[in-house]
Amino acid sequence: MKIPAFKLEEFWKKYEFIAPYLLCCSDAETWTLQELLKLADPDSKKLWNSLALGYTESPGHPLLREEIAQLYTSVKADDVITFAGAEEGIYCTMRVLLEPGDHVIVIAPCYPSLATLPEVCGGEVSTIQLKPENQWHLDVDAVKTAFRSNTKLLILNYPHNPTGALLEKRALEQLIELARNHGAYIFCDEVYRYLEVDAAKRLPSIADAYERGIALNVMTKSFGLAGLRIGWIATREANFLQEVGSYKLYTSICNSAPSEILAIMALRAKEQILQRSRDICLHNLKILDACMTRHQKRLSWIRPQSGTMAVVKLELPIPIDTFAKGLVRTTGILIMPGSVFDLPGNYFRIGFGKKNMPDILEKFEAYLQQVTYLM
Ligand SMILES: Cc1ncc(COP(=O)(O)O)c(C=O)c1O
Repeated sequence: MKIPAFKLEEFWKKYEFIAPYLLCCSDAETWTLQELLKLADPDSKKLWNSLALGYTESPGHPLLREEIAQLYTSVKADDVITFAGAEEGIYCTMRVLLEPGDHVIVIAPCYPSLATLPEVCGGEVSTIQLKPENQWHLDVDAVKTAFRSNTKLLILNYPHNPTGALLEKRALEQLIELARNHGAYIFCDEVYRYLEVDAAKRLPSIADAYERGIALNVMTKSFGLAGLRIGWIATREANFLQEVGSYKLYTSICNSAPSEILAIMALRAKEQILQRSRDICLHNLKILDACMTRHQKRLSWIRPQSGTMAVVKLELPIPIDTFAKGLVRTTGILIMPGSVFDLPGNYFRIGFGKKNMPDILEKFEAYLQQVTYLM
């Protein structure tokens, strides 16, 4: 099967480096190299200064895997394999796990490759739609009904892109029970973990909570270090891990050497790094709250519970794709229309993880007002 266009990444390819005001980013505020080096502990500084630019160990630098393992309660360094960003982890996992005829349950809307790759691999895909009338909550009973005797994999993404929804801990336990009864894997994309609005609602990682759980995370989003292209999979499923490690030899082979050391540095300073991301998101969320109140007749939303973004509904009688095109052409402000996620209705994604969000939002509000007056 030919691989379909990756709509979301095509959208970024087209606009990211030409639109001056990005109001739909999913990654938290980016760190500069100098800022990160200032956070470095003496040992990682030494690693940086003596860095050789050769090949690196395919599963990832042993110290990097050790730092990653510390993010989990039941995971050891040997239970971790690193990848070039989260996307390589998704790609390799789907290729390794799925064979034609395997049944896969996917939640929509979602980061597109979580839905397209299972199909590309020949999976029979059942899609469970998140609905605004249910506050974007996952209907666990619908997942239960979708399970079949040949269900191999349930794919989750919490905190969720694009809605910012979270799963209740009880719901996760129910899903694990369902998967366990069917001998199925759960792959959970956890790339926005640590950015829950209420930290008490943070879910346990699927790698800790379920023996057949495969957890995906990355330096890109909550850590604000997209340019490192360091992601990872953590799982206690040793056979799968070995196979996915072998698959990586056909994709990136190994990580970029400088990125590995910078990721070690960042993970050792994770409290400061994550705190900065959380502070920016919470600050911006309050500003967004006020904006939503000011524009009640033009915009509506289900307030996100986590992550760096929310889905907003444009309540004006203009199709969202037309509005978004007009917005970027007239003002340079980029929002992400729901069509990028195949989300029906007049929805768009807004991001609130960047420091410049309040300034862009002000410009966005001015445009919104102007468009309303012209109607
Ligand atoms: C849910 C989710 N998973 C994976 C990715 C891919 O992350 P990366 O750019 O680190 O490969 C993204 C990026 O937007 C995402 O939102």
